[in-house]
Amino acid sequence: MNRRECLKRAGVLSAAVILALYGSPSGAADPQPVTVLVTYHSVSGNTEKMAQAVAEGAKAVSGTSVVLKRVSEVIGDDLLSSDAVIVGSPVYVGNMSGEVKTFFDNWGRKFGLGTATGKMRNKVGAAFATGGSISSGKEVTMLTILVSMLSHQMIVIRGASATTGPDSPGIDAKEIAEARDLGKRVAEVAALVKRGSSK
Ligand SMILES: Cc1cc2nc3c(=O)[nH]c(=O)nc-3n(C[C@H](O)[C@H](O)[C@H](O)COP(=O)(O)O)c2cc1C
Repeated sequence: MNRRECLKRAGVLSAAVILALYGSPSGAADPQPVTVLVTYHSVSGNTEKMAQAVAEGAKAVSGTSVVLKRVSEVIGDDLLSSDAVIVGSPVYVGNMSGEVKTFFDNWGRKFGLGTATGKMRNKVGAAFATGGSISSGKEVTMLTILVSMLSHQMIVIRGASATTGPDSPGIDAKEIAEARDLGKRVAEVAALVKRGSSK
C-alpha cells in the first residue's frame, strides 16, 4: 500500500470511529421515536377504513411508529407505551358505540390507568367518527371521546369524520384526506410534546 492509500484508509477509519462514538457529524442526537396508537370499533368497515387512513397519515411523519388495533384488542401496555392515542367510533344513537365506551371504562377498570393515576397525563389524544346521516351525532361522538381523554388530562386535537349513509355512501376521497391529515397532525404534535419535554 502506498502512502496515499494508507492516509485515505486511516481517514475513513477515523471517521467511522467518530461516528460510532459521537453519532452524526452534525452532533444532533437521533430524535426520540414517537408511538401513535390508532384504535377503533367497526362492524361494517367504514370506521376501519378511516382508521387505516389515520394510521397512514401518522406513519408519514418520520420517526413515528403506529399501532393499529380494534378497541377490543387493546391492552393496557398499548396505552402506556403510546405518546398519542386516536380513537374512532361509528355513531350509535347519536353517540360513541357501546364498545368504545366500554374501552374507555376499561382504562381504569381493567388496565389500572384510572384518571387518578395520571398515567395518561399529557399524552396527545384525538377522535374520528363515521355516521350514516349528515347531522346525526358525528360531532357529539367525537366530542364525547375527547371528553373521556380530557378526564385523563390528555392534550386533545379536534378530529375527522365521514358520512356513510344513503346520501353519501362509503368514505370518499375528501374524508380519507381529512383522516390522513388528522393522523399526520397528531404525530407532529406528539413529537413536539415528547421532544420538547425532554429538553
Ligand atoms: C345501532 C346503530 C345505531 C346507529 N345510529 C346512528 C346515528 O344515531 N346517527 C348516524 O348518523 N348513524 C347511525 N348509525 C349508522 C352508523 O353510524 C354508520 O353506518 C357507520 O358508518 C357504521 O360504521 P362501521 O361501518 O364502521 O360499523 C347507526 C348504526 C347502528 C348499527
